[in-house]
Amino acid sequence: MPTSVALTGASGFIGHAIALRLCQAGLKVRGLVRSSRIIPSLDHSNFTLIPGDLHNIESLKKLVQGCTSVVHCAGTVRGSKRIDFIPSNIQGVANILRVCGSQPSPPRIIHFSSLAAREPSLSPYAWSKREGELLIQQEGESLHWIIVRPPAVYGPKDKALRPLFQLGKKGIALHLGSKNGKFSLIHVEDLTEVILRALERNTIRSAIFEVDDGFPNGYSWKSVFQVINPEIKIHVRVPRRFLWLIGKSNEILSRVFGYMPLFTTGKVAELGHVNWVSDSEDARQQLGWSPQIPLEEGLRHLFTSDSLMLRTKD
Ligand SMILES: NC(=O)c1ccc[n+]([C@@H]2O[C@H](COP(=O)([O-])OP(=O)(O)OC[C@H]3O[C@@H](n4cnc5c(N)ncnc54)[C@H](OP(=O)(O)O)[C@@H]3O)[C@@H](O)[C@H]2O)c1
Repeated sequence: MPTSVALTGASGFIGHAIALRLCQAGLKVRGLVRSSRIIPSLDHSNFTLIPGDLHNIESLKKLVQGCTSVVHCAGTVRGSKRIDFIPSNIQGVANILRVCGSQPSPPRIIHFSSLAAREPSLSPYAWSKREGELLIQQEGESLHWIIVRPPAVYGPKDKALRPLFQLGKKGIALHLGSKNGKFSLIHVEDLTEVILRALERNTIRSAIFEVDDGFPNGYSWKSVFQVINPEIKIHVRVPRRFLWLIGKSNEILSRVFGYMPLFTTGKVAELGHVNWVSDSEDARQQLGWSPQIPLEEGLRHLFTSDSLMLRTKD
């Protein structure tokens, strides 16, 4: 197990949970944070904030200094065109690789991709995550790397799935995906355990791991809403064409008002895909990891608290 880990994306939904878990496990974490904003929950004695950006090579050098592993979790999840995703998801990866490769003893890289990378033609986001993976794979054996492909991740501070789950809790099931679609989910804390195991098993290299919460053969939206609220009465199936119109309108509005949209036509294409089921067999076997938080438990916690469970005490 390394003692000092560099982490990008420490201010984000997943990166923040990873930072807390690694600190709690006794690792020294050097976290890249873009703005100089204070993140009170990261006020842990094992956490060192490195102000910087994926495009600032000097800050990246400072970040990886003395670290034997880099967890690269920073990425852009919002945007409508390829150009929105290129800087963080592709150039950012290239910069991380460059800085790691220039170290006298290059650190091992654990890179956050996405299940979306399996289907790069669906959306600019999916394309950018695949391109990021390709850059890493091109390193071949010259750098030690692992790629993790999470499915949809939920948990405290998530801004994508949580509103939909909360609507379900109130009795309205909004079906956004394909009727026949199946998908995997994972609670953010199960994902943090994947990273801990990957850090521990430091001989594993050149591997891509898909992960999930252990629900066999994937969820349908119906089965998820059944868990959220068995009493649910109102099911709203939004037609694909209407979803596309909402995505398109959001893209136009984002250009007018200058924000990065989450719900786009690309997202609609991703939602329409029928197979987002992870195959976590390799992760289980090679990392000796298994998910611990079934959807029922993850949701129970999500609906009652805004903070992580962090129930595994080291
Ligand atoms: N959430 C999911 O369901 C999911 C599923 C599969 C894969 N992933 C992947 O997991 C990773 C984290 O996602 P998330 O959901 O945690 O997203 P998030 O909450 O938007 O966090 C993204 C993080 O990346 C940082 N970042 C982005 N561009 C950066 C740059 N140029 N320089 C430095 N930092 C930068 C952000 O910093 P700021 O706080 O300054 O913006 C933030 O800390 C991403 O790579 C995403 O593709 C997420």
